[in-house]
Amino acid sequence: MKRYVGILSVLAFAIVLMNYSFVSADAAKGQAIFNDAKAGNCKTCHDTGDKKKVGPGLKGATDRQPKEWLEKWLADPQGTWAANDEHVQDLKKRMKKEDKPNTAMKLPTKLAADQVADLIDYLATLK
Ligand code: HEC
Repeated sequence: MKRYVGILSVLAFAIVLMNYSFVSADAAKGQAIFNDAKAGNCKTCHDTGDKKKVGPGLKGATDRQPKEWLEKWLADPQGTWAANDEHVQDLKKRMKKEDKPNTAMKLPTKLAADQVADLIDYLATLK
């Protein structure tokens, strides 16, 4: 019995460690996409602190915007902007673009779902 408890706790510890490394690996991948001009090019338009560049500073973006909305936004900024939901309206207000039919957020390529997930993990580290 004692032996099983020992094995189980080693296993539990290994799982915790694995989880931890997956999470940080995703954020690291997200950061690489953020900085890469051909992948996300996010860095050209966004500060990782509070400062406004072409777009808003992204510090706290995952607190301001729900995860499901960020997934939609990063997968399809133009379509999401056109859908004009409450989160887009909030963003428009902050950007003083209530009367602008098109978003200025143009991505170099369409992001895949796993890239979007990695980027959101990275954005969550900007506190
Ligand atoms: C060409 C400039 C540009 C690029 C490149 C760009 N963005 Fe944006 N982003 C904007 C603008 C501008 C807005 C605000 C909407 C508007 O004014 O059109 C915005 C809004 C956002 C928001 C909403 C922030 C909030 O406070 O609600 C997030 C999150 C975001 N961008 C993330 C990203 C990520 C991640 C990337 C890279 C994959 C990226 N952006 C690439 C210009 C850009």
